[in-house]
Amino acid sequence: MKAIAVRPGQPGSVHLRDIPTPSLNSAGTKGIRVKVLKVGVDATDREINDALYGNSPPGDDYLVLGHECFGKVLEVGPDVRLVKPGDYVTATVRRPGGSIYDKIGTYDMTSEETYYERGINLLHGYLTEEFVDTEDYIVRVPDGLKHLHVLMEPMSCAAKAIQQAFECQRRMKVWRPQRAFVLGAGQIGLLSTLVLKLRGLDVYTLARAKGPHLKSEIVEGLEAKYVATSETSLIELARQVGKADLIIDATGSSRIAFEAMQALGLNGALVWTSITGGKAVTEVPSDRVNIEWVLGNKLLLGSVNANREHFEAGIKDLAMGEVMYPGVLKKILTSPVDGLDGYQEMMRLLVEDNSALKVFVNVQDE
Ligand code: BGC
Ligand code: ZN
Repeated sequence: MKAIAVRPGQPGSVHLRDIPTPSLNSAGTKGIRVKVLKVGVDATDREINDALYGNSPPGDDYLVLGHECFGKVLEVGPDVRLVKPGDYVTATVRRPGGSIYDKIGTYDMTSEETYYERGINLLHGYLTEEFVDTEDYIVRVPDGLKHLHVLMEPMSCAAKAIQQAFECQRRMKVWRPQRAFVLGAGQIGLLSTLVLKLRGLDVYTLARAKGPHLKSEIVEGLEAKYVATSETSLIELARQVGKADLIIDATGSSRIAFEAMQALGLNGALVWTSITGGKAVTEVPSDRVNIEWVLGNKLLLGSVNANREHFEAGIKDLAMGEVMYPGVLKKILTSPVDGLDGYQEMMRLLVEDNSALKVFVNVQDE
């Protein structure tokens, strides 16, 4: 069967290749065989193709790309309980290593240096026609959300990041955050905006360009406030409306991630979610930030990836989002690519098209 792959370490190596079709038996009695319908791509795929990130599975000199999948169950093993043939599904990205966290289903919190991620690190991804995996990693998507297909994985990352912040803030005994800043209006920024609105916060979502444009329209459709940093910087915003109780950085810029430390209020939490594969070096006002953080009991939290629980929570939030803000979320899905053969167009959209909010491949019809 066809697959879109790269040769990790070799920049610009994206190509189409033929790989073996997996059999249901390879995953034991809890195996599920999935027909891939759509796969989303993001900056991580771009960095992998730029050879900044990612590794092949041991023994292979290629890596099948794709970690944001949406498909339909074709066949299940005898011990599968949670899905049946014909159900729509998505799948988690990480697979467990050997630490205690891996063993209890929280592989997103592994304490081992080596991590296994389908389509990213040491495991092949979903940009192919079919895959087989076990029930533990496959999550049902309700039929009523199938129009949001490839948003399930990015949503799981947003859901985890915010859930983790609330979890950590239990240190406060009482924490009723009111104001949130979301930095970046890409998929994670927009989906974080939704999660925070559903939790009742006043949300300011920041991105560079002055609106109106699609990003500002989606932010406002979610009843959050869009702020163009080309007009009002983050620091200026904090001066105008007050510092935030919770900040989610999803800009992909480590400079902004550090700058955000100056916009967080007392007892607040700042969550970093961006993968920055480059080598940027930034100067920070470290004395000032240091004293403010100590005197203000502030928290900095990194959040990667997601496990099954976060996929399930994210799917519930997407469902609630559709009820609260009908029709808004699907506007994120801007840029379809036709078939696996369209891999060059897929990379072109990822690299060159600034208006492409979400690039995804329509792998095949149902
Ligand atoms: C993916 C995550 C992954 C991260 C780092 C992101 O693009 O969505 O699942 O953990 O890259 O590899
Ligand atoms: Zn991703």
